[in-house]
Amino acid sequence: MSVFRVDDARCNRCGICVRECPPRIIEMVEPKALPTTVKGEEERCIVCGHCVAVCPFEAISLDTMKPEDCAPVNRKLLPTAEQVELFLKSRRSVRAYQEKTVPHTVLAKLIDIARYAPSGHNAQPVHWLVVEDPREVRSLAALVIEWMNMLIRKSPRVVELFHFDKFVNAWERGEDRVLRGAPHVIVAHAQKDAALAQENCSIALTYLELAAYSLGLGACWAGYLLAASSSPALITALRLPGGHKCFGAMIVGYPKHEFRCIPLRNEPSIIWR
Ligand SMILES: Cc1cc2nc3c(=O)[nH]c(=O)nc-3n(C[C@H](O)[C@H](O)[C@H](O)COP(=O)(O)O)c2cc1C
Repeated sequence: MSVFRVDDARCNRCGICVRECPPRIIEMVEPKALPTTVKGEEERCIVCGHCVAVCPFEAISLDTMKPEDCAPVNRKLLPTAEQVELFLKSRRSVRAYQEKTVPHTVLAKLIDIARYAPSGHNAQPVHWLVVEDPREVRSLAALVIEWMNMLIRKSPRVVELFHFDKFVNAWERGEDRVLRGAPHVIVAHAQKDAALAQENCSIALTYLELAAYSLGLGACWAGYLLAASSSPALITALRLPGGHKCFGAMIVGYPKHEFRCIPLRNEPSIIWR
C-alpha cells in the first residue's frame, strides 16, 4: 500500500475521506480525531487517490500521490450536458482515412487520456502497443487475411457466418477491409490471467475512441485483428511481453469524411422497476 499521511494543521476533521474511501480503510477513532488507516487493513488500499482528490483542504497525501501533483478540476472547462450528448451521439466508427500519419505526440495524448479509464480495483492493468508505421499496419492486416484464408480452408461453416471470403477477395483487389487502410493501430494488452482484463481493456479503448474523436481523429474497433490475435503468426508479429494477451485493438487516423447527421439507433430495451 501507499503510505497515508494527514497534515494535522490542514485537516479540519470533516470525515469526507472516511466516507469516500472505496475499501473503507480510513477511520476517525473519535469524532474529532485525525483520520488514520484502520490497523491491519492498510494492504487493502487500492491507491485510487480518492482521499487525496476529495479532501477540500489538501490535507491528505499518499507517498505516491501528493495533492500538489494532482491537476485541479477546472469545472468551467467541463462541457455542458448538451455538448456531451452531442459528442457521444455523433461519434462514429471511422473506416475511411486520409493518407496522413498522426503525430507521435497526438497518439501519446490519446493514451494519456485513456489511462484515466476506470479499472476494477483500480488495478490499471492495461498496456498499450501503438503501431506508428503504416507499413506495419499493412503487414498486420495481411496476417489477419492469412488467418482468414486458413479458416476458409479449415472451417467453411465459420466462413459462411463471417463472410471471410469477402475480406480476402477485397484484399486481393487491393482493398483492406480488416484495418481499413488506417495509418495506425493501437492494441490494448494485459497479463493473460489479470482479473477483469477484458473489461478493463475494452473500457480503456472506449475512452481512447472518444479521446480520438475529441482531437479531430477517427477510430474504429479492429475486431478481426482481435479475433486473429491468438494465431501463431500474429502472436509473433505483435511481440507482446511474455504472458500478455491482446484484449482489443483500434485503428486510428484522420477521417476522410465528415458525418452529416446522427444515424438512428434502436429504442432502448429497458425494464423499469
Ligand atoms: C467490440 C467491437 C468490435 C468491432 N469490430 C469492428 C471491425 O472489426 N470492423 C469494423 O469495421 N467495425 C467494427 N466495429 C464497429 C461497429 O461496427 C460499430 O460500432 C457499429 O456499426 C456502430 O457504428 P458507430 O460506432 O459508428 O455508432 C466493432 C465494434 C465493437 C464494439
